[in-house]
Amino acid sequence: MRILSGIQPSGKLHLGNYFGMMRPAIELQSRGEAYLFLADYHALTTVADPAALRAATRDAALDFLACGLDPDRTAFYRQSDVPEVTELMWLLSTVTPMGLLERCHSYKDKISKGIAPNHALFAYPVLMAADILAVRSDLVPVGRDQKQHVEVTRDIAQKFNNTFGPVFKIPEPAIREDVAVVPGVDGQKMSKSYNNTIEIFGDPKETRARIMRIVTDSTPVEAPKDPTRCNLFALYRLVVPEKESAALAERYRAGGVGYGAVKKELCECLEAYFAPMRARRDELARDVGYVEAVLRRGAERARAEASRTLADARRAVGLA
Ligand code: ADP
Ligand code: TRP
Repeated sequence: MRILSGIQPSGKLHLGNYFGMMRPAIELQSRGEAYLFLADYHALTTVADPAALRAATRDAALDFLACGLDPDRTAFYRQSDVPEVTELMWLLSTVTPMGLLERCHSYKDKISKGIAPNHALFAYPVLMAADILAVRSDLVPVGRDQKQHVEVTRDIAQKFNNTFGPVFKIPEPAIREDVAVVPGVDGQKMSKSYNNTIEIFGDPKETRARIMRIVTDSTPVEAPKDPTRCNLFALYRLVVPEKESAALAERYRAGGVGYGAVKKELCECLEAYFAPMRARRDELARDVGYVEAVLRRGAERARAEASRTLADARRAVGLA
């Protein structure tokens, strides 16, 4: 089975990205042939700062490698190192109905937030279809927010196959229903766009300060509390063994727990959880050529597959 997923390098990766996308994607490495890429072409729809894009791409690559991505097993690459994807996107565009893209929630959300609606933002799902179809992926693990884009990919692939013959494999989305939405320090979904994140490898002092700002209710220390409604608890349970989170839940229900004390515990547990990965990241970062070499090797593997698919698609539509 072939599995593909990607993430945009558009800022520092945070706990929502880690628990919602990175960890599940890294776990899938053992279930099949995995392709994982940094969607820098996609990031260009919102990042217009070359130095920032380069830095975010390198940082995200280091983050994934530090968190357990095994580059011998997984083809790990930068999207822009596989230019076949953009050519394939053009061929797919010719069978993509405007209405299909006009219905995409993600596009509508972005323009409602005030992002200027350029063509790349509108065509974003067609590029995503090209990413997926180029390597003939069977399974695409994504968060709920990306499900519609995988459905669009399926529609485009079917339309192409019906028009020109069976070139593309139809992929299935694998929606991570079991991974809850990780809340940010303000209680909304943790997201770069809401400035409410806790970075995976942020400065420890800054992380502590952010944890201290986590919004909680005003129940007094002595009163019993409901762990299922507490942002702090939602983060705590991600970074401790099940037994420890059950124990804290018990203490919540019994009363006598102060949120300040739980925040301090969370700081320690979070630091301990990521400490081995942080050490690994520091080590990898010292080897200047390493990340680049990994990404180039991954791109070679992805290109080999993508160029075969592109050749089939070109032939099917009547290009030389
Ligand atoms: P952001 O909202 O910070 O811009 P992205 O939309 O780039 O994050 O998300 C990248 C990946 O991380 C997606 O697969 C998405 O489902 C996952 N993800 C992002 N935020 C969260 C969250 N708060 N909880 C769970 N998963 C998340
Ligand atoms: N749009 C995805 C996101 O923002 C990233 C992405 C780009 C992707 N191409 C993809 C995810 C192909 C899965 C498959 O999270």
